[in-house]
Amino acid sequence: MNRKIYIETYGCQMNVADTEIINGILDKEGYEICTVIEQADAIFMNTCAIRDHAEQRVYGRLGNFDHLKKRNPHLVVGILGCMAERLRQNLIEDQKLVDIVCGPDEYRKLPALIDGAFHGGKGIQTQLSRVETYDDIEPLREEGITAWISVMRGCDKFCTFCVVPFTRGRERSRSLQSIVREAGTLVARGVREVTLLGQNVNSYRDGEADFADLLVAVASVDSGLRVRFTTSHPQDMSDRLIEAIATRENICSSIHLPVQSGSDRILDLMNRTYTRAEYLERVAMIRRSISAVALSTDIITGFPTETEDDHLQTLDILEQVRYESAFTFKYSPRENTKAWKMGDDVPDDIKGRRLEEVIALQRRISLERNRELIGSEATILLEGPSKRSDTEWMGRTDANRTVIIPKGAFEVGDTIRVRIESATSATLFGTVVGRTFAHGSS
Ligand code: 5AD
Ligand code: SF4
Repeated sequence: MNRKIYIETYGCQMNVADTEIINGILDKEGYEICTVIEQADAIFMNTCAIRDHAEQRVYGRLGNFDHLKKRNPHLVVGILGCMAERLRQNLIEDQKLVDIVCGPDEYRKLPALIDGAFHGGKGIQTQLSRVETYDDIEPLREEGITAWISVMRGCDKFCTFCVVPFTRGRERSRSLQSIVREAGTLVARGVREVTLLGQNVNSYRDGEADFADLLVAVASVDSGLRVRFTTSHPQDMSDRLIEAIATRENICSSIHLPVQSGSDRILDLMNRTYTRAEYLERVAMIRRSISAVALSTDIITGFPTETEDDHLQTLDILEQVRYESAFTFKYSPRENTKAWKMGDDVPDDIKGRRLEEVIALQRRISLERNRELIGSEATILLEGPSKRSDTEWMGRTDANRTVIIPKGAFEVGDTIRVRIESATSATLFGTVVGRTFAHGSS
C-alpha cells in the first residue's frame, strides 16, 4: 500500500504553489497525497517565517500532533519552507521537534528524506540554489478554474525588514517557453484564470524577455484566459509593463504594489529604493494608462525609529493613492536582517494603535471606492457559491473585486455581465444583466 502524506500550507501564495510542486514530486514517486490527517503516515507543514506570529502558529500546531504520535509512534513529522530554511538544525537537534527539515530549494530530495525517516532516520536539507526553479516538475493541482503559476523564485531586493532573501535565496526565473506551455495545458483542462507568481515578478528575465514579454506571451495563449500576477516592486514597474497591462484585454487591471510606508526617511531605512514622490509618480502613470485599474498595497507600522510624523505620512499616502485594499502588518523584527540591528524601539501598543488607524482609514477608503461603482456594470468570472449563503454565487471582476449575485442557472467558470447594486468595504453585490457567456467559450 502506498504511504500517505498530508501537507498543511501556511503563508503566502508562493507557498501554496510550492505545495503543489511538492505534491507533484511525491505523487510521481508513488506516495499518496491525503486530505485526512488521521490517515497520514507523514505530516508536513509548509511554513512561513515572515513574521514571528507566523512561526508561533506553527509551533502551536506541532503540539497538536502529539496525540497523533501517540496513536502512531512511527508517524513522521516534517517542516518545509521558510522556517525550515531559517531555523535548520535547531528544529531537529536542539528542540527535537521533527524528523525532517527541508528548505524551499530542496524539495527534489524529499522522497529520499521521507524514505530515511520511515527507516527511523532524521534528515535535514536546507541548501539554497541559484538555479532551481522546478521548471520540469508538473505541479499537482486541485481541479478548478483558477491556477497559480510560479514564474520566478527568490528575491534580491534585500528590504531591511525582510527574511525572504535569506529563506528563499537569490532571484531566478523559469523559462518563458515552459511557462507558456504550462498555461496552455491549464487552458486545455478548463482553467479560466492564471496568476503568475513571484516575490518580485517584475524582475523576471529569460534572455532578452522581461516580465512584460512574459505577460503578453501568457495572455496570447488564449484570449479567454484571464491573467493576473503578484507581487510587483515599485522600482521595477516599467512603462513597458504598464503598457502591456493597458493594451491587453485579458491581462487583469489590478496591481499589488506594496508601498510599506509613506515616509521618505523610513523608506530609505527600509532600503525600498524609491521615494514617496517616485512612488506617487508611478501610481499616476498607472492610473493615466490603465482605465479602472485597482491598486492594493502592503503597509508596515512601527518600523524601527518610526515617529508619529512618519506614521501620519503613511496615512497621507493612503489618502493620496486611494487603494482598493491594503494588507497591514505590525513590524516584526527578524534575526539576521539589517533592521534587526536597528532595534525594535516602537512599543507594541503604539505599533498596534498605528495599525488600527491604518486599518480604519483604509476601510473607509475601500468603502468609498466600492460605492463609486454602484450603478456601473462589470464582467465577473464565476468562482463558486458564496461563503455566506447557498442562495448566492461569488465571482470576481477584472479589477479583482468580489461580487455576490443571486444564484441562477450558471456554472462555475461562466463569465457574466452584472450591475453593481450595493457595496461594503470588502464586497460588491450585483444583479445579472444582459447576456452571459457559457463556460469554456471566450
Ligand atoms: N514585519 C512585518 N511585516 C513584514 N513584511 C515583510 N517582512 C515583515 C516584517 N519583518 C510584510 C511586508 C511585505 C509582506 C509580504 O509582509 O509588507 O510586503
Ligand atoms: Fe522581502 Fe522586499 Fe523581497 Fe518583498 S521585495 S520579498 S519585502 S526583500
